[in-house]
Amino acid sequence: MTTPHIEAPAGAFAETVLLPGDPLRAKYIAERFLEGAVQVTAVRNMYGYTGTYRGQRVSVMGGGMGIPSCSIYTSELIDHYGVKRVLRVGTCGAVLDEVEIGDLVLGLGASTDSGVNRTRFGGYDLAAIASWPLARAIDDAAKAAGRPLRIGNVYSTDLFYNAAPGLIDMLRRASVLGIEMEAAGLYTAAAERGAQAAALLTVSDHLISGARMSSEQRQIGLDQMIEVALAAVT
Ligand code: HPA
Repeated sequence: MTTPHIEAPAGAFAETVLLPGDPLRAKYIAERFLEGAVQVTAVRNMYGYTGTYRGQRVSVMGGGMGIPSCSIYTSELIDHYGVKRVLRVGTCGAVLDEVEIGDLVLGLGASTDSGVNRTRFGGYDLAAIASWPLARAIDDAAKAAGRPLRIGNVYSTDLFYNAAPGLIDMLRRASVLGIEMEAAGLYTAAAERGAQAAALLTVSDHLISGARMSSEQRQIGLDQMIEVALAAVT
């Protein structure tokens, strides 16, 4: 079975897919956390793997950067491979003083400057929200792991560079927890298909203080986030 962007046999993916942006992070997660992981697709080097975690089948696949890329993989996984839950695992930038590098953020809602949801929705606004069963499972898993979890609005931007003037101040006023590039598109693509989605993010940089994760912090933060994500879905 092939789709325009995935080449894998029918049934190659588990019902639950972890979706980091970076395909090499998908490879790392598969090798480090899954048992018996097998690579199931590599079109455009966007690697996907399926294995088990605590006896349950789980897949992990790169989704690329930005809403268009993430939406393509999410749509094809759900439409053609029977995927029912997509959990984005990634990083975000912080704008609030109280949010620190390494904090874990669950995007309960995802605001955006992207036009994709209005395009889908006839020019009206659709509230892009995480699926409650998945969000609740992530909250439960974070609590069980003793990891504080910030839950609220994230902002999915199309522009990594050249943010709109005043954007950061507006995000601060609106108590937005993190800025990233995919959740608003992911949530709507999944909702349109009756699938679940959520985004679990580690704060990698602070847009006000200029603080950034070191590569060691990045690795530790990533591992802890993946443990919470996998516990939530198994
Ligand atoms: N902007 C967009 N996406 C991001 C950022 C950011 O500052 N940090 C991590 N992902």
